[in-house]
Amino acid sequence: MEPREMILVLGANGQIGTELVTALRAKYSSDQVIASDIRPAIGSQDGPFEILDIMDAVAVENSLKKHQITQIYHLAAILSATGEKNPRMAWQVNMDGLLNILEASVKLSVKKVFWPSSIAVFGKHSKKRLTPQYAITDPDTIYGISKLAGERWCNYYYRTRGLDVRSLRYPGLISYVGKPGGGTTDYAVEIFYEALQNGTYTCFLKEDQRLPMMYMPDAIKATIQLMDADADKLRIRSSYNVSSLSFSPAELAKKIQGHLPKLSVDYAPDFRQQIAETWPDSIDDNYARIDWDWNPDYDLSTMVIDMLENIGKKG
Ligand SMILES: NC(=O)c1ccc[n+]([C@@H]2O[C@H](COP(=O)([O-])OP(=O)(O)OC[C@H]3O[C@@H](n4cnc5c(N)ncnc54)[C@H](O)[C@@H]3O)[C@@H](O)[C@H]2O)c1
Repeated sequence: MEPREMILVLGANGQIGTELVTALRAKYSSDQVIASDIRPAIGSQDGPFEILDIMDAVAVENSLKKHQITQIYHLAAILSATGEKNPRMAWQVNMDGLLNILEASVKLSVKKVFWPSSIAVFGKHSKKRLTPQYAITDPDTIYGISKLAGERWCNYYYRTRGLDVRSLRYPGLISYVGKPGGGTTDYAVEIFYEALQNGTYTCFLKEDQRLPMMYMPDAIKATIQLMDADADKLRIRSSYNVSSLSFSPAELAKKIQGHLPKLSVDYAPDFRQQIAETWPDSIDDNYARIDWDWNPDYDLSTMVIDMLENIGKKG
């Protein structure tokens, strides 16, 4: 008989983890999904939580043994804007942390590992529009450098150690549940809160800075769909391009103004503008669509309506 699935989510308190844990607990059962983070749990808990630092390889191994973990979702990381403030620390957490997880997974025969990469692996010389899977990758940020190296490590562990590791290059993620964790696309969440609370927003990117984005329900759907896919259908073991929305701050503001006409937005680009300028404006995700039937549910209009409705309900 197959062992009962036991799932460990690392970095579970973050923007993605908060919602992924809920979705996994709905798909499996609460006691099969162990949420963990370096920070204490926030909010009410509907299942097991433990403090776990991914830099502590022994603690990670002990947790895998204790819970007889069969699947890992490794989300703990330092994001792009925060990483630029402390590059050595970002490299250590993003790289050594990943290696601890990959090594422990091989040692303790974890069946599947999910680890997210990012559109930050691309750079100034990548094709900007509909950036292909196999584009030039010349990232400028330490975050992008660590994600690119991480992709190669994942592929290496798959090839040489037989580890079933799966990955997506997430675009900027938009959600009304968790707050964003220090990324270059955080404006696309902040603007909703400011629009509803104050009617004004000062954006830290230029008005025409188009970037690839995705609504969180689609990101969660993509993540679980990839983890459920037949292993032999997956041609990519570094990280899949995955795409949904592409818009600029001005286009997003205009859509929101369709519902809140009094919203006024001005622009004061800061260091995050330089990061954004090196990233693609849209992504070609053909491999994901062919290999595991990827197809997003939300477009810009339906995402904006859902965000306003749900943030409005929070009061
Ligand atoms: N949110 C996005 O727009 C986006 C886009 C592309 C890729 N990603 C990737 O998805 C993953 C999750 O992103 P997120 O937005 O939820 O990030 P986040 O910053 O919101 O959450 C990361 C979590 O990791 C935890 N953490 C940090 N150091 C840790 C450590 N040493 N041990 C254990 N936990 C630690 C933090 O406490 C935090 O709760 C990351 O790998 C990120 O690079 C996110």
